[in-house]
Amino acid sequence: MGNGAQNQPYTVEMGAPRCLIALLACLFLVEEVEPKVEFTNFKCTSLDPKFAIVEHCYLKSVNRTYKYLALKINLLQKPVTRIKVNGATWKRFNGYKPSLYNVTIDACKFLKNPKSNPVADYIHRLFRTYSNMNHSCPFNHDVIIDKLPISFVNNQVTAVLPVPPGDYMFQSHWYAYDINRATVQVYLTIF
Ligand SMILES: *[C@@H]1O[C@H](CO)[C@@H](O)[C@H](O)[C@H]1NC(C)=O
Ligand SMILES: *[C@@H]1O[C@H](CO)[C@@H](O)[C@H](O)[C@H]1NC(C)=O
Ligand SMILES: *[C@@H]1O[C@H](CO)[C@@H](O)[C@H](O)[C@H]1NC(C)=O
Repeated sequence: MGNGAQNQPYTVEMGAPRCLIALLACLFLVEEVEPKVEFTNFKCTSLDPKFAIVEHCYLKSVNRTYKYLALKINLLQKPVTRIKVNGATWKRFNGYKPSLYNVTIDACKFLKNPKSNPVADYIHRLFRTYSNMNHSCPFNHDVIIDKLPISFVNNQVTAVLPVPPGDYMFQSHWYAYDINRATVQVYLTIF
């Protein structure tokens, strides 16, 4: 009984500083406009120029707050009806080493039912609204990511995926009819 009486004021006293710390953390986070993620490089390579050509693939800094990523890949053997994607994350220690994820998906099945694969869905959501990779197979047009704002990606990455700081690389291999046709690599630093 004595415990209850003692505990109550104790809890209140501890609660107040904790609230204050949470409030300060909130103010700090709201004020902090610097991105926690910085994209450092973006590379696309066609491994089969008769099948796919990289028309463009770049990161652009318009100014301090507006940076975007753009991609256009011409498909030369349309329509494409079977696509597989292997995506893996690498982290830099002494050189890049595989880390965390290595997933291969049937892209046509996934696009029909994105909820079937939460990790792929998470990655897809990072660029889907700026891309024409937003429908299921067949693909009978060039593949485009149109000026995907880095801030849009940052907001989602930092909100949902707390990962340790470091240099990372996301590498994807794009297979059509089980042949590796292209690779796309994104390099980023998490602070
Ligand atoms: C950065 O560029 C965008 C697009 O041109 C523009 O809307 C924005 O106001 C610019 N921001 C700054 C800080 O100059
Ligand atoms: C991912 O897994 C595949 C199949 O097991 C393997 O061939 C490939 O080397 C792995 N990639 C990475 C980056 O570890
Ligand atoms: C897919 O993206 C294209 C180009 O941005 C857009 O015109 C189309 O309405 C989108 N389709 C779906 C199903 O979201």
